[in-house]
Amino acid sequence: MARIAILISGRGSNMVALVDAAQSGKLNNAEIVLVISDQPNAAGLGKAAERGLETLVIERAGRTRAEHDSEIMSALSSRHVDLICLAGYMRILSADFIDAYRGRILNIHPSLLPLFPGLDPQKQALDTSAQTSGCTVHFVDETLDGGPIIIQREVPVREDDTVESLSVRILEQEHKLYPEAVNRVLAQIHRET
Ligand code: GRF
Repeated sequence: MARIAILISGRGSNMVALVDAAQSGKLNNAEIVLVISDQPNAAGLGKAAERGLETLVIERAGRTRAEHDSEIMSALSSRHVDLICLAGYMRILSADFIDAYRGRILNIHPSLLPLFPGLDPQKQALDTSAQTSGCTVHFVDETLDGGPIIIQREVPVREDDTVESLSVRILEQEHKLYPEAVNRVLAQIHRET
């Protein structure tokens, strides 16, 4: 059984999609063992606790990136975590963290990367009059939203779209895409072990 941790900073709807998939047996031989937030007020924390998960707040405030990440890494290692899913986690990871879990950290981003990396990708899509956007799950490396792509899904941009309406339609697809991506990576992990 692979052991998954999810890192969040806010709402946590992708975290909930992953937990629901795991709890209804839709993840391939894996369980979610821990949800970590760097923000004490993240709404996702309550949603994780309601679903019976262990939650930890490891606050970024007052810690350097290296200190913060090393505290997260000890929590992951003491729970024997195999795979880490970033789900709206808003802090860039240190090189040491990425190195320690290379190929085992996933992120979801609401655009068709390499288009529109970084902040406000839905607004970037509208500002450039893109006809389609979408979402991407990728491995995390040292680049910003630039690691190897696992899977993507297109979402058409409508003429009357606002940032909000486009974000809602992309988010619906994110919730389906993330569990699929995790299953692809789990298949690889299970082949190796
Ligand atoms: C999602 O759009 C995700 O792609 C991006 O941040 C947002 C997080 O939303 N990285 P939620 O916290 O999962 O609801």
